[in-house]
Amino acid sequence: MADSQIYKASTTAPVNIAVIKYWGKRDPKLNLPTNSSLSVTLSQSDLRTHTTASCAATYPSQDSLLLNGQDQDVSGARTQACFRELRSLRQKLEKSDPSMPKLSTLPLKIVSENNFPTAAGLASSAAGFAALVRAIANLYELKENETELSRIARQGSGSACRSLFGGYVGWEKGSKEDGSDSVAYQVAPASHWPQMRALILVVSAAKKGVSSTTGMQTTVATSSLFPQRANETVPRRMKEMEKAIQEKDFEAFGNITMMDSNSFHATCLDTYPPIFYLNDVSRAAIKVVEAINVVAGKIIAAYTFDAGPNAVIYYLKENEAEVAGLFKAAIGEKEGWTGIRGDAVLANNGALEQV
Ligand code: ADP
Ligand code: DP6
Ligand code: CO
Repeated sequence: MADSQIYKASTTAPVNIAVIKYWGKRDPKLNLPTNSSLSVTLSQSDLRTHTTASCAATYPSQDSLLLNGQDQDVSGARTQACFRELRSLRQKLEKSDPSMPKLSTLPLKIVSENNFPTAAGLASSAAGFAALVRAIANLYELKENETELSRIARQGSGSACRSLFGGYVGWEKGSKEDGSDSVAYQVAPASHWPQMRALILVVSAAKKGVSSTTGMQTTVATSSLFPQRANETVPRRMKEMEKAIQEKDFEAFGNITMMDSNSFHATCLDTYPPIFYLNDVSRAAIKVVEAINVVAGKIIAAYTFDAGPNAVIYYLKENEAEVAGLFKAAIGEKEGWTGIRGDAVLANNGALEQV
């Protein structure tokens, strides 16, 4: 019986950790950024979201989202924008082929699990909205490609647009008012530079005090450092970073990664009232990376921090012992480290895989 049928699709999406950070919206409604950004997509075997989207005529009439077992409010404009865009694409299919079931008219039930801390600066909104959009697109049997889905995911959470691609991923800020050219693109597949590794240090799994959304809007409104970052520093570094990736130049990659993380956290400190995402343990991690690079006589490790205290350290496989080994040794001695999520290695399929 069509009436009692439940339609269902599941997917997973990985987190991505930016090496040139997105911070600032030029249009909060469409979630359009003030600057372009660039990230590396991490392993699905380490940090991932698993999402199931289903719809049925027998469901309660309101759309719903269960995240880690807790009911979420779906009335927010960002989640609504994703639902609306995906429904409208399904509607087009249903119009062109009247034999298709009218799924666009049915209530949606989304069930999602993150296997890592949510809202702690480890890009849960990125994996979360990428998975949500892809799960519904699968449910609706949409033919849109990753670029088109990235435009929709961006409206859920900016960083989510980059999680639809594997490897090294850019997000072009775009210039059109309707945001149609503000989409993600693959700079290089993971197989281009398969020696890349990411070490994730979970300093705190606690929910951050200031959400990314609120934080970046306060920065845009109050920081005098911010315009220079958005208009001069980041555009220059985007070009330098793409070149470093194309040339597999880790020293340049690492140097730009660390300087951009510092620049982003400087604008947070320059926000009024100031936003402190880093803590003493984060700063200790920076010191450890600096020491590693001094001993090596060149940059072999690069730290970066999102909107939270947790460190992500990029390095190459050949330097595993010097970088990951030293951190693992240090973790035993330092207070404040709550764990290590795992070493990751880029695999040929576009995602990072666990070693
Ligand atoms: P993070 O640093 O983890 O990305 P944000 O402040 O950017 O933190 O976003 C956290 C918010 O993202 C959560 O409060 C929730 O609203 C949303 N989110 C996280 N995971 C998911 C998910 N799996 N599905 C849908 N939304 C999610
Ligand atoms: C520091 O994508 O979480 O991680 O678009 O408001 O949901 P919203 O913000 P979000 O911001 C991410 C900020 C960052 C840098 C980055 O991932 O580029
Ligand atoms: Co986020």
